[in-house]
Parts: sequence; C-alpha cells; structure tokens
Amino acid sequence: MSTMVIFAWLLVLFTAGTSPAVRGKYYSDSHIVDDPVTIKKTQLHFFMHDTLSGNNPSAVPVAQPKGTVVQQGNLLPFGAVYVFDDWLTMGPDPNSKVIGNARGIYASTSRGSDFTLLLSGDFEFTSGGFNGSSISVFSRDPLVLAKEVAVVGGRGKFRMAKGFILMNAVYFNVTNGDAILECHATVFH
Ligand SMILES: *[C@@H]1O[C@H](CO)[C@@H](O)[C@H](O)[C@H]1NC(C)=O
Ligand SMILES: *[C@@H]1O[C@H](CO)[C@@H](O)[C@H](O)[C@H]1NC(C)=O
Repeated sequence: MSTMVIFAWLLVLFTAGTSPAVRGKYYSDSHIVDDPVTIKKTQLHFFMHDTLSGNNPSAVPVAQPKGTVVQQGNLLPFGAVYVFDDWLTMGPDPNSKVIGNARGIYASTSRGSDFTLLLSGDFEFTSGGFNGSSISVFSRDPLVLAKEVAVVGGRGKFRMAKGFILMNAVYFNVTNGDAILECHATVFH
C-alpha cells in the first residue's frame, strides 16, 4: 500500500469514529432512516405472582400519604407506593417453572373508589430464547380482574419493543392483596 492509500484509510477510520463530542456537539446529525426495518411479533404467555402477605412478600409498601396507614383493609390509599420483585412462571401454580421476574414500582393513583395503579416495571426473562431480554411496562393499571397494560420498550432481543399485555387475575385475595395474574403479551420488536 502506498502512503496515500494508508493515509486515506486512516482518514476514513477517523471520520467514521468521530463522536459528536469531538466535533464540539453533544448530538450527531439526524438522518432519515429509510432502511427497510424488519419488525417481528412475539407472543408470550406467563403468570405473575404479586404477594403482599407472609414474611417474604414480593411487593412492599415504601411510601404512603401522611396520616394514612398501609395495612389489611387499606392496602392502596391514594398515594401509596410499592416496590415489587414478582416471579414470572410458566403456570398459575407458584411452584411452577420460573421463567423471569418483574421488577419495578407501582403507585396508587386514583382519588376515587376506582382503584388504579401506575405500573412501572421491567419484566426480564431468565430462561429460553429470551433469557436476559426484557420488556418495559409503563401504564395505567386499573384494579379490575381483566385489563390491558402498555409495553413501551425493551432490552436485548426486545430492544425498541412496543406492545401490550392482557392481564387476567386468576387469583386475587381482596383481604391481603395477593394476586396471580395470567399475562398474554404481544410484542412488536
Ligand atoms: C441465562 O443467561 C445467563 C447469563 O448469560 C446464564 O448464566 C444462564 O445460565 C442462562 N439461563 C438459561 C436457563 O439459559
Ligand atoms: C385471603 O387472605 C386472608 C388473610 O391473609 C386469609 O385468611 C384467607 O384465607 C385468604 N383467602 C384465600 C381464598 O386464600
């Protein structure tokens, strides 16, 4: 290779690798993305176990409005905030195969009697073809037996995901708040 060719290659390498910051900006030029993008659709079926009772709960209250007490019979006063780490399993039985976990925060966001949560969580799968990938849920989550929550993103194989999860409570104990939710997720990624 002649010196000119090597010089030209170096120029290409440096230009390609130049980060915006080097050029004194914090952003790159914007480009119209006209590559054909293949969007895949994946459907997932699993059960989510949200356990408030017992000495090893999967959801714990971390904040509550001044003057209220989060306790049996008053689990979701307006403003209560819970952190959760719920198992995701193949079947409705809590002892069935664990395939992931949903970790996040939910808050009681209705001032009325129509109990509503804001559900914000990362549902990560820990087995099978989507091991290590996750879907991000951020949604209104009314406290009814059947509802739909929005999937707004994802990681790994679910990067840039959009979709929804139809949730159906197969078990719900109104006294202690324990719930098992059947989840049918449809994800475009
Ligand atoms: C899932 O991925 C983790 C991290 O790469 C690995 O340690 C684990 O063995 C995998 N589990 C399964 C069931 O494939
Ligand atoms: C619901 O929870 C209460 C309080 O923990 C318990 O006494 C009751 O047996 C539970 N009901 C069912 C159907 O599991």
